[in-house]
Amino acid sequence: MQSARWQVFADCREVISAACEFVVRVATQAARERGVFRVVLSGGRTPQPLYRELAQRALDWDCWNVYFADERCLHPGHPDSNAGLASANFLSQVPIPPSQVFPIVCGEDGPSGAAQAYSAQLAGVPEFDLVLLGLGEDGHTASLFPGGEWGTAPTAPAALPVSDAPPPYRARVSLSAWRLNLARHVVFLVCGATKNPAVTRWRSGMRIPASAIVPDAGVTVMINRDAFGPS
Ligand code: 6PG
Repeated sequence: MQSARWQVFADCREVISAACEFVVRVATQAARERGVFRVVLSGGRTPQPLYRELAQRALDWDCWNVYFADERCLHPGHPDSNAGLASANFLSQVPIPPSQVFPIVCGEDGPSGAAQAYSAQLAGVPEFDLVLLGLGEDGHTASLFPGGEWGTAPTAPAALPVSDAPPPYRARVSLSAWRLNLARHVVFLVCGATKNPAVTRWRSGMRIPASAIVPDAGVTVMINRDAFGPS
C-alpha cells in the first residue's frame, strides 16, 4: 500500500519552485553526510523548468551521480530523448563530471539490450537519494504503462524493456517499480488539468503504475490545483 503526501500548489510555477528547494535541500544534505548525491531524473516536459532552475544554483556538483528513470529509444542525441532534454536544459550547463552521468543507451540491441545493460550498470548502486517522477495522462510513470509489466517483485530486474508503449515513442526502457522503490525520497511532479482523471483514479486507490511506487518512506506528490481537483 502506497503512502502518499499530497502537496497542492496554486500553479505549476509554485510546484517547480517547491521542487527546486526540495532538490537543493536533499542534495546538500546527501553531499554533507555521505559525499555523494544519487539522483534519478524523470523525462517529460514537466521537470524541464526545474532542471533550468537547478542549473542556476551553485551546488556541490562533484557529488552528483545522475541516473534516468526511463528513456525513449531514439537515436543518440535526439532532442526528444530524456537524456537529451536533461542535457539541453541542465546537464550541459553544470560541472557534473561526465563519468557521473549515466544515460540509458538504446543501441542496436533495442530496448532489451539497453535494459540489460542498465540493470548491470545499477548492480551495486545503493539506494538512490532522490527519484523524480512524472505522471502520464493514462497513469503511467517512468515508462511503466497500464497493462504492461511494472516489475514490482523483488526479483524484477532494475531496468525493463518496453516495446509497446503508446505512440509516438513505442520502444522504451524503464527502471522497474522495484528499483525505483529503493530510494530515500521519491517525488512526483504533476501539473495541468489533463492529469486530473489519472490523479482522481490514483487518489481513489485504483491501481495505476504511479501507485505501484512504494518506497519505505512513502512518496511526495507536488501537484497544482488543476491537476489535483477539488479537495
Ligand atoms: C517519458 C516519461 C514519462 C513522463 C510522463 C509525464 O519519457 O515520457 O518519463 O513518465 O514523466 O509522461 O510527462 P509530462 O511531464 O511531459 O506530462
